[in-house]
Amino acid sequence: TAGRAEAAQRIRALLARENAVLVAHYYVDGDVQELAEATGGCVGDSLEMARFGRDHPAATLVVAGVRFMGETAKILSPAKRVLMPDLDASCSLDLGCPAPAFADWCDAHPDRTVVVYANTSAAVKARADWVVTSSIALDLVADLHARGEKILWAPDRHLGRYVQAQTGADMLLWQGACLVHDEFKGTELELMRAAYPDARVLAHPESPSSVLAQADVVGSTTQLIEAARCLDAPRLIVATDQGILHKMRQRAPGKTFLAAPTAGDSATCKSCAHCPWMAMNGLAGLAHTLEHGANEILLDPALARRAKAPIDRMLDFAD
Ligand code: 13P
Ligand code: SF4
Repeated sequence: TAGRAEAAQRIRALLARENAVLVAHYYVDGDVQELAEATGGCVGDSLEMARFGRDHPAATLVVAGVRFMGETAKILSPAKRVLMPDLDASCSLDLGCPAPAFADWCDAHPDRTVVVYANTSAAVKARADWVVTSSIALDLVADLHARGEKILWAPDRHLGRYVQAQTGADMLLWQGACLVHDEFKGTELELMRAAYPDARVLAHPESPSSVLAQADVVGSTTQLIEAARCLDAPRLIVATDQGILHKMRQRAPGKTFLAAPTAGDSATCKSCAHCPWMAMNGLAGLAHTLEHGANEILLDPALARRAKAPIDRMLDFAD
């Protein structure tokens, strides 16, 4: 609409005025993704967002995603200003892993290497030996396992269980879950696959094991988009946030996408297949944060320095 085009134009001007660049996740509004791409920013999975923000010379990073993504950007670039459309954009994995309880758990298992998912607070990362994202969790844990290390894993239990099953590593798992992916149901997925025998299944590893067991491809958002393009199937069943369909449809025009089934229908299940925190990122919020320098991520510098070490380790491993 004209309103959206006008808002996008205003944001372009503000990005230039503020020497700012937009770093967006695949789950945010399609308009925001388009704008990031059209203005030299990035749309990516959480690893790519971290790397892009670290390497880009802009003085201000505007992160369209959830809070841990903004915090990671700030940790990696303490001299840059990091803004977000809404600082209340959290994540159920982050909320379900409070730093004091996590520290107690680590204290109780001093013999284990601590590996945490990127979807955590700076304080939890500061206690970790390694940070991982979904795109490199398997490779990293396989490597640690090969070196004989035993692992303490937090917070996502489904991703942890998947990595444990694939690598055979000795892992103790924190029992967190993503409220979006936790809703996908294996039995209903079996029925859907029976109804569409030519379909293939793409699943994010935050989904339950009953879903992952039926997936043709398990991977990060970027890896799933690439699979949507490459797989030789007319129909794809997608077990992740439906925000990803914007990019999948662009990359794989002509294919049909079906949302993997959840227990509730859209009337009863508000967060089904779309993250309520990712949904807080819209054009109006972006314009506001840039106009006023509002919603800046500020972290205690000493804490940020401690959190940086395990993130740097991850990025070195990934490079
Ligand atoms: P990706 O790293 O795969 O983009 O996942 C981030 C996330 O929050 C998934 O729910
Ligand atoms: Fe967190 Fe799930 Fe939302 Fe990703 S989709 S940000 S894991 S709540």
